[in-house]
Amino acid sequence: MRVTKEKLKELFKTKFIKAGLSEEHAEITADVLVFADERGIHSHGAMRVEYYCERIAKGGINTKPNFQFEKTGPSTGVFHADGGSGFAAAKAAMDEAIKMAKENGVAVVGVENMSHSGAIAYYTHQAVKEDLVALTLCQSDPMVVPFGGADPYYGTNPIAFAAPSSDGRVISLDMATTVQAWGKILYARSKNESIPDTWAVDAEGNPTTDPHKVNALLPIAGPKGYGLMMMVDVLSGILLGLPFGNKVSSMYSDLTEYRRLGQLHVVINPAFFTDLEQFKQNITNTMNDLNNIKPAPGFSQVYFPGQNLDAVIEEYNKNGIEIVDDIYEYLVSDVVHNNKYDNKSPFAE
Ligand code: NAI
Repeated sequence: MRVTKEKLKELFKTKFIKAGLSEEHAEITADVLVFADERGIHSHGAMRVEYYCERIAKGGINTKPNFQFEKTGPSTGVFHADGGSGFAAAKAAMDEAIKMAKENGVAVVGVENMSHSGAIAYYTHQAVKEDLVALTLCQSDPMVVPFGGADPYYGTNPIAFAAPSSDGRVISLDMATTVQAWGKILYARSKNESIPDTWAVDAEGNPTTDPHKVNALLPIAGPKGYGLMMMVDVLSGILLGLPFGNKVSSMYSDLTEYRRLGQLHVVINPAFFTDLEQFKQNITNTMNDLNNIKPAPGFSQVYFPGQNLDAVIEEYNKNGIEIVDDIYEYLVSDVVHNNKYDNKSPFAE
């Protein structure tokens, strides 16, 4: 089913309001989910709506949070999310980081006690619109084996980085530190497709191609990806005094409890380091250099990070965003949720 961006956002927003979220937070949540779907990051778009609705309806997301920003230094702060929408909290915290980086050249802002915040490139793009460079890291539920281990300890702990250019294009790296994000396994399940045997392991620790048999994910590049996910957990969890490692709450565990996740935004103002226009021009130059590199056999072009999504955005803007039929039916129905997620294993649908 193809749906326009505007219609999709309206459908998401209506569901979230029906589940109990405030209009303001429903609007922001819908915006971040559409940001994901319109880039083809379907793992973090429409397919998550019902889960969020169930958590909101059961009290696992604070619908009237007391959001507070505590400035702890000229360039540092902690955003207290009070169990509220991770999307609204992460966005508001980035707004605070942007203000401080404009004034002081750099900002480091932690978000604590938040709920899930989706595709985290959304927040780095907020900074890029203000001619700033941003790095965002966040915790996610434990489902990844540490290098050499058989039991999960870390989450898929994503890293997003974005920088502005002189022509409006954005370098945008946005990646889970696992070979694939968990949502990609969910998406494969929803379409009944197999997965490559390098993504995940089954209950015995063997590589599997069946998304339904996945018991833990694998870090990118063995010990190096494992080290990166540890860094994310230290900076967005331990640094903020939050639960860490395998104590991070699971997506589906007790939907009546707030999740206590952490996120960290680091914003850098290039104007404090070099000439801003020259910086942006050089970002454009490096993008062009990359695009002009001779493609390897089997490749048509070298893309800079994020550029691979441009064709998807263009096609979806022209023909509407592709949404799985079952999910569309749910979105247009009166149902808030079907009680599908409560206390499911982290590896549930
Ligand atoms: P991915 O594997 O699809 O892409 C990772 C990065 O590689 C992107 O920046 C992409 O632009 C770049 N890339 C891909 N193909 C490329 C090519 N041919 N040339 C140049 N660059 C290319 O992303 P992944 O790891 O599956 O993550 C998907 C989403 O999941 C992200 O938006 C992430 O923020 C989100 N996520 C959110 C979590 C949360 O708890 N909030 C947890 C884990 C992931």
